[in-house]
Amino acid sequence: MKNNRPSATALFVANGMYFNSKRRRLRKDIPEETRASFVALIENIYGIKRTVLRKRLHLMKCYFSQRFTIDGFYLHFLLRKKCIEHEVLQAIRSGCKQVVILGAGYDPLGINLANKFPEVRFTEVDHPATSVYKQSVFNRLKWERPNLFPLSCDLNNAERLFSSEKFDRHAKTMIVCEAVLMYLPSKAVGGLFDVIRKNFSKCKLVFTFMNEQAPGDYMFRDAHPMTNNYLRLNSEPFTWGIPVLGVESYLKERGWRLLDIFDDHRLRKDFLSPANQDLPLAIGELIVSCEPLNDGK
Ligand SMILES: C[S@@+](CC[C@H](N)C(=O)[O-])C[C@H]1O[C@@H](n2cnc3c(N)ncnc32)[C@H](O)[C@@H]1O
Repeated sequence: MKNNRPSATALFVANGMYFNSKRRRLRKDIPEETRASFVALIENIYGIKRTVLRKRLHLMKCYFSQRFTIDGFYLHFLLRKKCIEHEVLQAIRSGCKQVVILGAGYDPLGINLANKFPEVRFTEVDHPATSVYKQSVFNRLKWERPNLFPLSCDLNNAERLFSSEKFDRHAKTMIVCEAVLMYLPSKAVGGLFDVIRKNFSKCKLVFTFMNEQAPGDYMFRDAHPMTNNYLRLNSEPFTWGIPVLGVESYLKERGWRLLDIFDDHRLRKDFLSPANQDLPLAIGELIVSCEPLNDGK
C-alpha cells in the first residue's frame, strides 16, 4: 500500500458493512452494536449524518462498488466479521487477557469489545498511513478507551513491532489478522507467523487467507475483471495466498497447529440466518484459527 495514503480497501470494507447495515433483509443477521458502529463511522467519515439525500447517494455508490467487484462481497465481510468476533469472544471466555488486532482498518471490533471487557487489553495495529487517519476519525467519534491502544507499524517489519514494551508476552493472547495477509509478500507472511510464535507462548491466532486457485491466482471466484484493476489502482494488489488443501502443512512447517477453518459453506451454516441462505456470497477468502505447536501441550 502507499506510504502516504490510508488504505482504500479498509474503507471499502467499512462501506460494505454500512451497506449491509442499511439492508432491511439483513437486520436479524447484524448484531445491533456492529450495525450502529458502522453507521456512525461512515456517516462521520463522509459527513452525511444529517442529509437523507447524501446518505441515499452514498448507498448507491456502495451498491455500484459491489456490482463492479464481486457478487456477495459485502455479505462475506459480514459473515467473516461475525466468525472472527465469535472466535475472539470464545478466547476471552477461556481466560485471554490480551487481544491484538493486526491491520485493524476501521473495524469497530476493538472498541466494542474494549467497552464490554475492561479487564482485557486491546491493541489495534495498522500501517502508519491508515493508523493516523483512523485515529483522527475514532477521536471525533470519541472511540477511545483506557484499555484500547493504537499502534502504527508496517507489518513488513513485524520483528520490531513485537519487541515493543506495549505487549505482555506472557499473557494469554488472541491475535486477529483479518483481510491483511493477502497484501503482504510471501516472505513477510512467513516472518509474521514466526515472530508471533516466538513472542507469544500462550496465544491463538485467527487469520484470513485467499485460496490460491491456480499458481499466482489469489482472486475471489467469479470476480468482476474490474476488481484487480481497483486493487492495483489503489496500490493494494493481492500478493499472497495458498491452496486450501495446503494450509495445514503450511502452518505445521512454521510451528503452528490448525484448529479450525471456515469456508463459505461453513460461514453460511454458522453465521447466516435460514431466511437469508439464498443470498449470494463471495467465495475465495477463508478464516483459520490456529495455535503454536510449542504451547506446552
Ligand atoms: C482490507 S483492509 C482490512 C481491514 C480490517 N481488518 C477489516 O477486515 O475490516 C486491509 C488492512 O491491512 C492494512 N495493511 C495493509 N498492508 C499493511 C502493512 N504492510 N502493514 C500494516 N498494515 C497493513 C491496511 O492498512 C488495512 O487496514
